[in-house]
Amino acid sequence: MVKIAVLPVAGLGTRFLPASKAIPKEMLPIIDKPLIQYAVEEAINIGVDEIIFITSPEKYSIKKHFDKNINFEDRLKNSGKIEMIKKLNPEIFSGIKFHYIDQKEQKGLGHAILHAEELVGENTFAVLLPDDLFFSAESCLDQLLNSHQETNSSVIAVNKVSKEDVHKYGVISPGVIKNKSIQIEDIVEKPSLDDAPSDIAVCGRYIFKPTIFKFLKTTKFDKSGEIQLTDAIKALLEEEEVYARMYEGEKYDCGSKKGFVHATIALALKDKSISKDIKKIIKEII
Ligand code: UTP
Repeated sequence: MVKIAVLPVAGLGTRFLPASKAIPKEMLPIIDKPLIQYAVEEAINIGVDEIIFITSPEKYSIKKHFDKNINFEDRLKNSGKIEMIKKLNPEIFSGIKFHYIDQKEQKGLGHAILHAEELVGENTFAVLLPDDLFFSAESCLDQLLNSHQETNSSVIAVNKVSKEDVHKYGVISPGVIKNKSIQIEDIVEKPSLDDAPSDIAVCGRYIFKPTIFKFLKTTKFDKSGEIQLTDAIKALLEEEEVYARMYEGEKYDCGSKKGFVHATIALALKDKSISKDIKKIIKEII
């Protein structure tokens, strides 16, 4: 069972300036739901009941979003809009423990995850990067959970990327495949095309055994002053098996403008309340 999820959201979000100046990029909506809520729901739906946000003081609106808002609820009741309450304070959040830990300096994803060590303790835990929005019948975390249960190892989500894009991601060298779980032989952070061991790149969902912390603690800061999660995984590989799971479904990189707009269009076309109109609008524009 995976009961804890860590969501690192302390990044600067520079690609979304000026929108991300006053509003954390994770709070930007895809249609009518902030990006971060899609990831939180994905975690809760596999049975997670404790969510740890690694955040920063400027991003207080994230806490406000997940806190129950009784005043707003009362105002909705008084104006007869009772059906809106389930959108305001969703049932799915009740019983979930939300923690907020400040990462004072943005020293990388590995550094961010390390902040969760004390709360995670000896538990296996999920990591979700809310920038990556996944859309599939069986969620990305569910797919990882299957592989974790099969292998009893840490598992990371991967997908194939174009050759021109390998330099943007952590890339694995794949080994033996057991059912849908691919044993990882090696992993490299942002390789050049010539050095890339494959075109299979890491995407933003992971299930880790707590042993990862030992390696996050000993991973050195890289040239840009960051602790890379990929480097810690590479070190972990020397002591235990780590698997990758080829994600089956749609994926949108909402950390980039292109991916964000793509996700907005794709989800709008799935939203029955607006899809017809949106199709018409797109046709008109083209
Ligand atoms: P990114 O580097 O993709 O996102 O980090 P960013 O820094 O927020 O955005 P840009 O590149 O400036 O536009 C991937 C994930 O790791 C988190 C980010 O919040 C994001 O979810 N992160 C990154 C941290 O929590 N702390 C860090 O020090 C770095």
